[in-house]
Amino acid sequence: MVISDIMLRNFRNHVESRITFGEGLNVLLGDNGQGKTNILEAVSYLSLTKSFYAASDSHAVRLGEGIFEVEGEMVADGGTPSTVRVAYQKDPPEKTFTINNVRPDSLSRVIGRFPVVILSPEHGSITSGAPAERRRFMDLTLSQVSSVYLDDLIEYRRILRQRNRLLADVRAGQAGAAAPLEPWTMNLAQVGGRIIQRRSRFAAEFSSYVGWAYSSLVQGDEVPLLKYLPCTPAGPGAEPEEIAGAMLQQIHERAAEERRRGTSLVGPHRDELQLSLNGTSVQRYASQGQHKTLLVSLKVAEFYYLRERRNEDPILLLDDLFSELDAQRSRRILAVVGTMGQAIITTTEETPFQGEVHWNTRHRRFTIEHGTVYPAA
Ligand SMILES: Nc1ncnc2c1ncn2[C@@H]1O[C@H](COP(=O)(O)OP(=O)(O)OP(=O)(O)O)[C@@H](O)[C@H]1O
Ligand SMILES: [Mg+2]
Repeated sequence: MVISDIMLRNFRNHVESRITFGEGLNVLLGDNGQGKTNILEAVSYLSLTKSFYAASDSHAVRLGEGIFEVEGEMVADGGTPSTVRVAYQKDPPEKTFTINNVRPDSLSRVIGRFPVVILSPEHGSITSGAPAERRRFMDLTLSQVSSVYLDDLIEYRRILRQRNRLLADVRAGQAGAAAPLEPWTMNLAQVGGRIIQRRSRFAAEFSSYVGWAYSSLVQGDEVPLLKYLPCTPAGPGAEPEEIAGAMLQQIHERAAEERRRGTSLVGPHRDELQLSLNGTSVQRYASQGQHKTLLVSLKVAEFYYLRERRNEDPILLLDDLFSELDAQRSRRILAVVGTMGQAIITTTEETPFQGEVHWNTRHRRFTIEHGTVYPAA
């Protein structure tokens, strides 16, 4: 997949910007606050139907305006083009998403159709933050591979919300101990079992992709490892029903605690994806450069994982790729990225590219200034 053209109208600080991308490296160069990341965010709207960081749609509308529009031409590896358009109006709030002028049945059905891999400073928390950040990473990767997984995830969240509401009522004394919790518990375990199974398999497969990616970025003997730690332990071959059974048992064991605390304590929403380097916890002990290198490895791994399962090269969106990296690692990473698919890279410094990339129709440079895009001289 490549994005060949994009148009942003009244999107963030862009009044009307048009870019024709090359099929290789596309570098968006500019000082801080000029509107580089905003362009990646616009691509994320076309691919994921929303911002890649937790920004609300209304904040993306240019201040003083009522509507934003983003339109892009996506070309599949087989050559089939699709015109994708997102428009959002603030009042009344309405988002319109079309592919070749047709609205998809639901926005969730679009996820994975135009695969992207996004690296941004916000994602730094994948390696350093709370377990929720790593669950989000797993979920987004798996959602782009399997719409069944995404449907399960959406369903699980709905069940969890309902069940937590009931438990909160129980705690507040608004519902007796006989509140109809059981059907929700059954559903939670059933869907939860499927999610845990899929994630266990993912972690086992994905870990070797990360190991390979890491060793292609750094010479040395650091070996990363990913380990999925579901709160309901399940062997690698466990079937969803088995996991659901184990989940139910744990929920029943912790029933009193759940009622006292007013929330669901067992399930994939409490799981952890543990990251280690040579057996040592990344979260606790890794240096900034190691964090960043591991994060880039996760993204390189995600690229190949998605490519193999979707038979389509994801578009790489690399925000501030080089921050926190020394010159040698930056060069190495650039060399690896150069062999992948189409990449759109934001940077404040051109230095890492100098002498490494020849600018032509495949590899292009743009300068961004006050929300205006110029082909770089
Ligand atoms: N809704 C909006 N309307 C108008 N301007 C906005 C809106 N949202 C953000 N901006 C402006 O967009 C600019 C930030 O753009 P962006 O995040 O793309 O910068 P950047 O070039 O990536 O900078 P950095 O190098 O610091 O990451 C800021 O000047 C901000 O004020
Ligand atoms: Mg930025």
